[in-house]
Amino acid sequence: LFRHGLRTPTKTYTNDPYTEAFWGVPWGELSTQGMAQQFAQGKRMRKMYVEDTPLVGPKYSRYETYVRSADFPRCSQSAQANLAAFYAGSPTFPNDVTDWPSNWTPIPIHTVPHDEDHVLEGYEPEVCPKFIQLKIDRLQTREFLDFVASNWKLLYVINANTGDPEDYTFGAIAQLFASLSVEKDFNLTLPDWVTDEFYADLEIANNKGVDYTLGEVGFGLSMNPEMIKLSTGFLLNEWIGNIKEVLNGTSSVKYYAYSGHDATIGSILIGLGVKDELMGPTNPDFASTVAFELWEKDSVHYIKVSFP
Ligand SMILES: *[C@@H]1O[C@H](CO)[C@@H](O)[C@H](O)[C@H]1NC(C)=O
Ligand SMILES: *[C@@H]1O[C@H](CO)[C@@H](O)[C@H](O)[C@H]1NC(C)=O
Repeated sequence: LFRHGLRTPTKTYTNDPYTEAFWGVPWGELSTQGMAQQFAQGKRMRKMYVEDTPLVGPKYSRYETYVRSADFPRCSQSAQANLAAFYAGSPTFPNDVTDWPSNWTPIPIHTVPHDEDHVLEGYEPEVCPKFIQLKIDRLQTREFLDFVASNWKLLYVINANTGDPEDYTFGAIAQLFASLSVEKDFNLTLPDWVTDEFYADLEIANNKGVDYTLGEVGFGLSMNPEMIKLSTGFLLNEWIGNIKEVLNGTSSVKYYAYSGHDATIGSILIGLGVKDELMGPTNPDFASTVAFELWEKDSVHYIKVSFP
């Protein structure tokens, strides 16, 4: 399961000097660097599962590999870039066509419409209003509101500078961090009011709250099983189905690749209780990949979760 590669911000604050016109591509579009990140990840996956452990054959076959993407351009493009590297050794392309991209086999990428995608985007308002209601409830607890209020200095700077409608909620922190962190990834110069100290505090505040908004334990509440069920239960169920089919011999697929978002990875790891241990309290990075491997030892099956 991977997050798409580096993209442009999905939106930004009113006074941001870096507008959509600055980027020259739509909001949230996969960047060429993001394509390169995914290509590099596909190479690493090929080394792991095709070369070092010959689990998947070097020749593409739909009997062995299944790719499923969220219906976002950046996700399906990421899957294509990733699989281009994974199957760069596959002889399944025409070699007598002028200008055919070198060693490129087109790999099928399955998807479903965004607002029906409970498997990869169950935490989105268009997909599951119930999840959003539970999240809103969670943001209203006394302990969480106290945490937000304790960040009054940050919120004051945000409201004095962004030009957005007044907002003293956690959303103001998370939204601004989402924009600024991407601009930082692109090595852009940030406005003067974004001092190093401000940015560091913003990151700390974001990271304290972000997993909690997905249902993680925190601020006096335990992990919220209903939120987890809605955000990631369908993905977990699909995987368990995949495993059962492999174990009862009705499927020969060896490699399932899922292309989603930071929250897709965050939700499943929070649900399994391993998010903090695997990657700490931060948003999963662009192109970060989590592997779930089915192993058998002495006739007992195990799942190995890793962050390779
Ligand atoms: C930003 O700078 C770093 C360090 O020089 C570089 O590795 C990275 O590729 C740059 N990012 C982009 C998006 O150009
Ligand atoms: C194999 O497992 C799948 C998933 O649980 C199930 O739908 C299917 O009926 C099973 N088939 C056989 C032959 O056991």
